[in-house]
Amino acid sequence: MTIPDEVQARAARLRDLLNYHSYRYYVLDAPEISDAEYDALFNELKRLEEQYPELRTPDSPTQRVGGAVLDRFEKVPHPEPMLSLGNAFNVEELYAWRERFLRLLPEELTADLAYVVEPKIDGLTVVLHYHDGVFTVGATRGDGYVGEDITVNLRTVRDLPLRIPVAPGQRPPGGPEGLPLVTVARPPRRLVVRGEAYMTLADFQRFQAEQEAAGGKVYANPRNTAAGALRNLDSSVAASRPLHLWAYSVVVVEDSEFTPTSQWEALAFLHALGFPVTPQSRRFTDFAAVVRFVEAWADQRHSLPYETDGLVIKLDDFALQQRLGYVGKDPRWAVAYKYPSEEAITRLLEIRVNVGRTGTINPYAVLEPVSVGGVTVQHATLHNLDYIRDNDIRVGDMVAVKRAGEVIPQVLRPLVELRTGQEQVWEMPSRCPVCGEPVVQPEGEVAFYCTNSACPAQLVRGVEHFVSRGAMDIEGFGIRQAELFVEKGYIKDLADIYYLPWDEILQLEGYGEKRVANLRAAIEAAKSRPLARVLTALGIRGVGGTVAEALADHFGSVWRLMEATPEEITAIPGIGPKLASSIRNWFSHPQNRRVIEKLAAAGVRLAEEPPAEAAGPQPLAGQTWVITGTLPTLSREAATALIKAHGGKVTGSVSAKTSYLLAGEKPGSKLDAARKLGVPVVDEATLLRMIGREGSSS
Ligand code: IVH
Repeated sequence: MTIPDEVQARAARLRDLLNYHSYRYYVLDAPEISDAEYDALFNELKRLEEQYPELRTPDSPTQRVGGAVLDRFEKVPHPEPMLSLGNAFNVEELYAWRERFLRLLPEELTADLAYVVEPKIDGLTVVLHYHDGVFTVGATRGDGYVGEDITVNLRTVRDLPLRIPVAPGQRPPGGPEGLPLVTVARPPRRLVVRGEAYMTLADFQRFQAEQEAAGGKVYANPRNTAAGALRNLDSSVAASRPLHLWAYSVVVVEDSEFTPTSQWEALAFLHALGFPVTPQSRRFTDFAAVVRFVEAWADQRHSLPYETDGLVIKLDDFALQQRLGYVGKDPRWAVAYKYPSEEAITRLLEIRVNVGRTGTINPYAVLEPVSVGGVTVQHATLHNLDYIRDNDIRVGDMVAVKRAGEVIPQVLRPLVELRTGQEQVWEMPSRCPVCGEPVVQPEGEVAFYCTNSACPAQLVRGVEHFVSRGAMDIEGFGIRQAELFVEKGYIKDLADIYYLPWDEILQLEGYGEKRVANLRAAIEAAKSRPLARVLTALGIRGVGGTVAEALADHFGSVWRLMEATPEEITAIPGIGPKLASSIRNWFSHPQNRRVIEKLAAAGVRLAEEPPAEAAGPQPLAGQTWVITGTLPTLSREAATALIKAHGGKVTGSVSAKTSYLLAGEKPGSKLDAARKLGVPVVDEATLLRMIGREGSSS
């Protein structure tokens, strides 16, 4: 099929725009357009590619959503060996590393040495190949000489540039302090970059919670979760996990406008091309300053949103690096500085289970108390039976325990060499420890469940979840209150939290006037939590914070979600058929619908927009607005918020349904579209008049 020139040009323009805007969003964290506008551009490109499949180029942002399923990964030889690093565990070893290479350099070259210090990211090495600026092949490290071709999975990594430079000729903002200025208008003919793919701690925690809720596989840490995604033959797995990239080495560069001669220049070059570069990296010309940085980092590293296992210290100058070369597999010119681990070894005394809010039977370890990173730990999660079996954890084992950030302590592995032969393999109990009903493992699931939907443990857990921080966040209400109120029969379903018999509670020990007044006020205050919080609080299997946000955004109210078809639900990116059926299933139970009705009757907010009486006048009700160009005073976000607050809707593209086009300077194609369709065009001042904010400067 021949593709008309203008269609080809439009597709190329859309690819460039989308690549640029996803870089603004994911790498710089500074979007220029709204999500709706991005989606409109994305859908336009998707439609063109459906019509003309030849338009589907490797750098097309539509390829980020995954979908390809491979039989196996092809092998990719690395252009240079991907070697590892020697370690230093304390400052003395760091000085010793320096002494070793200083001895090999002639006096005159050691006068003004410079060092680059970078966070050592705990992820997976990836090797990225670009030809004429297009990302063509991405590989794992493999054995250091040959890796595996995981290109389809890497395309789903949102901050990995599919085409470079992403902002030709511009110096991107951000990046490490003091990085030299490099501007690149044209991509090198060939470029190979080494970096680390990783998952943030927050994303890992969300992922873990949702997996546990959905009865899926859980991983011990963000690194394994990222590895599981990148090594999966089904690329939709990678697409469903939020992975990120930090680039740190230029492995090959050919026919380039700029060729770095030092590590610091290499970082500047990568940054200029649009690769994410760790902003914490620093260059020092004084080794004492390197040591001070390394010492300060011991605390600082915990404030990063992702896991690091130390710092990498590199001699800056490439000529010196070349001269020094390697000892075995380790470069002489670089070293990894590792901090003492937040792991501890202790004895696993017993494995117990608790019942989760969806009825999952969750095994946990009772440990001989041990201090991990300054906190005494006695209990640690074991996730599920598969985890215990995969890691061969037995009762009586000496085990490694870890605490990372906010994550609940977990048992990592047994120390098999310390076994006495007395250790016991653990079995899942066949009956629920709380209600005594049978425990089952549904086909295809990792989790075991208590089959009794009236199991009091589930209700207590459900209430505990409902009132928790990430859900309705009711202060003064925790597991104690949940247990007490369920036991007393005050709470028979989640909505009963809003119908508590306060007179009776006032009679209970420890529940004086003041405490009860505070608790009542906290419950009252939680009625106006955003919709996403309510959806999280309901405890629908698989619906954690991230999914709840997406559902709230898409449907806008519980009522609309309740009536949604599975197709409507799976239309949301990241929500698959399993999750959709779990949601449908929840709302299909009459007792759950009853909970929703009771919540509504109690005045709990069940729609995105605040109730009408809480909002101001709504002069733009029923109107659909589109914004284009630069407005004189309002940012696009502020204009959008104003229109929404006064009852209007904001969309990304002009159509016959558009009520008004709000146009600023340099309006572009939307203005033409509006004129063609006869859509009225107004300026910022007119908008402000329409909402009664004339002459106001607020
Ligand atoms: S430089 C020969 N820089 O650490 C140069 N590596 O133990 C070696 N890593 O396999 C790589 N962050 O996966 C370098 N800023 C960084 C790094 C880094 C993480 C990993 C990398 C490597 C391992 C070496």
